[in-house]
Amino acid sequence: MPVTRVATVDDAPAVTALLQANREALAPWEPTREDAWFTLENQRTVLETSLAAYAQGAMVPLVILDGDEVIGRLNLNGITRGALQSAAIGYWVSSAHQGRGFATRAVADAVALAFGDLGLHRLQAETLLHNTASQQVLLRNGFRPFGVAPSYLKIAGSWQDHVLFHLLATE
Ligand SMILES: CC(C)(COP(=O)(O)OP(=O)(O)OC[C@H]1O[C@@H](n2cnc3c(N)ncnc32)[C@H](O)[C@@H]1OP(=O)(O)O)[C@@H](O)C(=O)NCCC(=O)NCCS
Repeated sequence: MPVTRVATVDDAPAVTALLQANREALAPWEPTREDAWFTLENQRTVLETSLAAYAQGAMVPLVILDGDEVIGRLNLNGITRGALQSAAIGYWVSSAHQGRGFATRAVADAVALAFGDLGLHRLQAETLLHNTASQQVLLRNGFRPFGVAPSYLKIAGSWQDHVLFHLLATE
């Protein structure tokens, strides 16, 4: 039973409410977000931009669901064709719904989509070295760590090392 679907612009109010409620909890794991990030207008724009990129085949914006309720987001980003046939995944789940397997199932949905309908060869994900919860989610979906990228992403205001994980369609 899928726990994700493609996002729509109508999800903007629910996503905005979640981001506002989880602002402090998400801050250590995300790029620094200014106040404007947390407005309905901005989240509508983010979804519109993401859906335009989806229409071009460049990404897939998903919402994570508990029944009909939106409880998080997952993006398949940077879909690259040609010889690479790869994409990167990023996700978060509302604190109120964490620890119940939603991220694990959402990543499983993304894997099925990537290697099924999208016909990709490879998925990548990266986590902070101490993001054990996210690493568990990836390991449980068959991802394997293949290295540490120094100073890889600017998270919570500083360039931080990340563990790189990948999963191949053939695995
Ligand atoms: C990472 C995140 C998406 C996991 O969501 P979730 O729905 O709680 O994930 P699941 O319930 O599927 O699995 C989480 C696993 O991590 C474990 N876990 C949770 N917090 C942990 C911690 N502090 N230390 C160790 N393990 C932890 C859980 O026990 C669970 O493993 P288990 O089922 O084997 O016990 C969520 O914590 C989150 O949104 N974090 C902030 C944003 C983020 O880090 N995104 C990923 C960036 S790479």
